Amino acid sequence: MRKKYKINILIFAITLLGIIPCYGQQVSEISVLSNKPGADVQSTMWGVFFEDINFAADGGIYAELVKNRSFEFALPATGWRLPSRQNGNGRMVASFYSPARPSNPHFMRVYIDSAAGTFTLTNEGFRGMGIKKDGKYNFSVSARLTGASDIKITAELFSPGNEPAGNTELSGFSGTWNTYQASIVASQTLQNAQLKLTLSGKGNIDLDMISLFPDDTWRGRKNGLRKDIVEMIADLKPGFLRFPGGCIVEGRDLTNRYQWKTTVGPVEDRKMIINRWNNEMQNRQAPDYFQSFGLGFYEYFLLAEDIGAEALPILNCGMSCQFNAAEVVPLNELDPYIQDALDLIEFANGEITAKWGRLRAEMGHPGKFNLKFIGIGNEQWDEQYIERYKLFEKILKSEHPEIKIVSGSGPSSSGRLFDYAWSELKKLNPDLIDEHYYMPPDWFLKNSTRYDNYDRTGIKVFAGEYAAHGRETTDPESRNTWLSALCEAAFMTGLERNSDVVYMASYAPLLAHVDAWQWRPDLIWFDNLATMGTPNYYVQKLFSNYRGTKVVPVLTEGRPLTGQDSLYASSTIDAKAGKLYIKIVNSSRKKKQVMLSLGALSYGKEAEKVTLKSDNPLAFNTIERPKIIFPQSSPVRINGRRINTEIDPASVNVFIIDFKTR
Ligand code: AHR
Repeated sequence: MRKKYKINILIFAITLLGIIPCYGQQVSEISVLSNKPGADVQSTMWGVFFEDINFAADGGIYAELVKNRSFEFALPATGWRLPSRQNGNGRMVASFYSPARPSNPHFMRVYIDSAAGTFTLTNEGFRGMGIKKDGKYNFSVSARLTGASDIKITAELFSPGNEPAGNTELSGFSGTWNTYQASIVASQTLQNAQLKLTLSGKGNIDLDMISLFPDDTWRGRKNGLRKDIVEMIADLKPGFLRFPGGCIVEGRDLTNRYQWKTTVGPVEDRKMIINRWNNEMQNRQAPDYFQSFGLGFYEYFLLAEDIGAEALPILNCGMSCQFNAAEVVPLNELDPYIQDALDLIEFANGEITAKWGRLRAEMGHPGKFNLKFIGIGNEQWDEQYIERYKLFEKILKSEHPEIKIVSGSGPSSSGRLFDYAWSELKKLNPDLIDEHYYMPPDWFLKNSTRYDNYDRTGIKVFAGEYAAHGRETTDPESRNTWLSALCEAAFMTGLERNSDVVYMASYAPLLAHVDAWQWRPDLIWFDNLATMGTPNYYVQKLFSNYRGTKVVPVLTEGRPLTGQDSLYASSTIDAKAGKLYIKIVNSSRKKKQVMLSLGALSYGKEAEKVTLKSDNPLAFNTIERPKIIFPQSSPVRINGRRINTEIDPASVNVFIIDFKTR
């Protein structure tokens, strides 16, 4: 099966290289009917899908550098090196348990028995800690002394070769739990630093929430998000931010489903659980993958607001992942799940006098988040989903008719379960149906017309998860190749052309750590210091940055250009800004000479063309070489209302054309 898959991809790549001739007629004239704009392009058209997979949250966008800061992993000392629990001068107990603190019960107790005693514990970070020379790092710890004790803590950063890289000291602890803070200035840039705490003095001390954050976070927020990763996302200008997933919403079982209420309020009270991607992939196991929820629902809403995206939270519908435990909540016990949805709307949009609105205000956001969408269930299928969805819809539509509901069509792009979901949901009232397709690249070319025949008046489509997969997701050689990005771009011209049906679309997954991934391809890769945009990222960026507000027909010989002569095109206009955008994808190895006839508007003499291309379909960007495939801008001449131009082999092109508005 796997071998056959690889052979198919190879044949497809060879076809693209032109060893097998391309199909279709030669296209010479392309008419862009800019004076006949059609459907609106929604502001939500191109968005992002965030899931905590591939260490996207802890170890990724959430800038905490200490792994297992609160000793709540299944093995409480995970991530910590305790040279010896008993060194002759003292002892430590890594899993002290306090039932009085149910959401964060474990802490570490250190006993120093000898006045000359010191004890060290070292945190390895998430595959190391990225630190930058001269950067400030904020260290904090929650601590209390027990008995008559006098203890000092030295917190020190050091390199894998044990070279010091900055330190600080804390003392003056008391007998009650308090948070103590100090900062470290890094003396070196390191990809894989570690944090060592040396405790000296005499007596006993309890430690919890041992934390280290860069001072330089997104928008300078204390203990916030990694700036470089958020900037990459913000640069996409996404119309929406879907969170928190994905299968993570469902959990492998219901106990470990995503529950938004345990992710808000003070971070130390957010109840850590296992991440479902921890041991999901047999050959990409990550036993140290948990969810601290330092990035919780409040932070997601804030992130969406910061980057100008609509928030699209997806909630568990009373079912755990049907690929795993497949647990379901009896229909007559679904009320708490529905109440979670109602309370979430109150958290986002409620008055600050209401319980959940007040919590939002206490967390720092008295203003409403203006939530407009909510998703019920992720990749659920069959009657069990429809029965549960119906109960959610009934109450949500009656209590919150202003909120648009996103329902799901299951994990496949077609077939019995997909058809069943659509036929049943059509009898109900969702605003959008979420479709998922992780398919081979040629599927994306063939499906550029997928939405041409969808019902224009019915439920709208949310293409909520898609990516061209050249290999299996866990295959170490599975890459974000140029081939995958090119085929996605061809497909996206079909989404754009059908903007009256497709209201939202997002590539998935969004983020991956180069040393800690479970699934690929992914849109943005990062290590502990840097980020890298894939070719797929630049395709998304081109479509989203040059979105336009209305669709413009693009025709060749009177028909939409959807693969004739291996060319795919779509066009949009932004009348207010006086911009016409034309996207043309050439999926063949041959250069094409085309005449673009621009329609009856008033243009200048020159336009801009942004091109993304490579002559190697299997090329990809890396952190070290992030611009192998990168957009290039060039001027093109406009003659009257025409552009006579070449479309490079295997290229994605956006023409940005100014016109006079009256
Ligand atoms: O994007 C990775 C996973 O793919 C998502 O969690 C799930 O919805 C889909 O199966």
